Amino acid sequence: MSDFEIQEIVQLDRTVLNEILEESNRAGYRHMQRLMNDFIEGHNRFDHTGEVLLGAFKGKELIGICGLNQDPYHFEPGVGRLRRMYVLEAYRRMGVGRELVHEIIRRAQAHYRMLVLHTDSYDADVFYRSIGFVRADQADRISHILHLHHYNETCTCKNEERIINMEEYYWDTKIEYLKNTRNLYYNDDYLEFLVKQVWKIQSPVHIVDYGCGYGYLGLKLLPLLPPGSSYTGMDQGEKLIDKAKEIYKNLPYKTTFIVRNIEELQAEPQYDIAICHAFLLHMTDPQAILGKMIRSVVDGGMIICMEPHWISAMSNIVLHGEDSSNVANLGILQKLFENDQKRLGKDGNIGLKLPIYLSQLGVRHIQCRVSDKVNFLDVHMNEAEKEQLFQSILEDGLGSPPGNREEVIANLIQRGLTRSDAERQYEIELNLSQILSIDSYLVSAPNMKITFGTVIGNS
Ligand SMILES: C[S@@+](CC[C@H](N)C(=O)[O-])C[C@H]1O[C@@H](n2cnc3c(N)ncnc32)[C@H](O)[C@@H]1O
Repeated sequence: MSDFEIQEIVQLDRTVLNEILEESNRAGYRHMQRLMNDFIEGHNRFDHTGEVLLGAFKGKELIGICGLNQDPYHFEPGVGRLRRMYVLEAYRRMGVGRELVHEIIRRAQAHYRMLVLHTDSYDADVFYRSIGFVRADQADRISHILHLHHYNETCTCKNEERIINMEEYYWDTKIEYLKNTRNLYYNDDYLEFLVKQVWKIQSPVHIVDYGCGYGYLGLKLLPLLPPGSSYTGMDQGEKLIDKAKEIYKNLPYKTTFIVRNIEELQAEPQYDIAICHAFLLHMTDPQAILGKMIRSVVDGGMIICMEPHWISAMSNIVLHGEDSSNVANLGILQKLFENDQKRLGKDGNIGLKLPIYLSQLGVRHIQCRVSDKVNFLDVHMNEAEKEQLFQSILEDGLGSPPGNREEVIANLIQRGLTRSDAERQYEIELNLSQILSIDSYLVSAPNMKITFGTVIGNS
């Protein structure tokens, strides 16, 4: 639905709010009545610095509303409070609430470092977390927090673990990142070995790549697959899919690219192979997505998941002259990744769990391998190759500067670390960013896990 407009409300008129008031009162919510009363009595008209009341209008009809105040409870500068949010039932799940909140965030960024809110509704919790808020379980009158400076920035540790971008779809902004980092995982001869010796693909196949990005896997696999094979790439990123179409336009392969949110996919058995690469770790319910992938494969076909197991990647790093514990403190990272998984469902350590998940979902003849590539930044390499590898390593999140100390530490605490672990993690990242240079000796093996098996019983 795009036929609504977000506008600032300076004078809240009872007749305009009436439908929302009646509906919310009937549903037992009191916050819209409070909004009206406070406005009439002058207690809160959203008219201080950094405050605004926004309405979503369909023509003249007010279909949603949301306010931004200076946080009145904690007297801390730099904290804004999102409140008085309501969308008429008839207009829910159409993007109205999301647009309102995005606009509130956009405006809050000019005034605050943090946005807080309070809700005890399950649906609201899911909604706000989908936008990038995180739960604040122990804080008084705060159920969710959004660190505004982090909103569009890289999170600590791994670039792939990011908060959702508010204006543009996040992965659509990461095409260069994807292009610059895919070279870190596999040697071409190993992929050939997998296709020909391990998967033994000898007749043409129709392969679907879920979360295909710009079609990296297709570019690697299509030249190795028997002639007549076809590749379908599916991704939520419109720009990524446009990029894929542009890249494949002059290539001699049968390809189809589809913009699709795979979480909403109704899968039918139609492909010989369903594959994904660095995709499931971003899913809040990876088993449900695996179920869809499996359902999209014909009886006797194959599912192949190529996913990371971050903690093993972080243990596979040697920086000459440094203790490994100064490069990656595995205990802290283990906690961080596990907490994230518990909070968000997304699992950077999904790689080694996939054999179990696939077996539980009925896949048989399961095997798991690891990717072969070991990246060696060698002081004796030729300069161009050294520069390229060094940039790829930085882009992949290793050795890039962690950002503002207080904010990074607050974010790590928010993600469940103790203050001392958060400070230690910050120091490690800072230290690494200062000592890692193009003239370092660095050896790292990302060690992707490649899990595959046979799909049985689909028809
Ligand atoms: C780390 S990237 C990997 C892209 C590609 N497989 C590669 O390795 O180059 C994760 C991809 O998953 C896609 N993605 C994430 N959630 C999705 C969803 N719900 N539906 C479709 N694609 C999604 C993103 O748009 C992004 O392209």
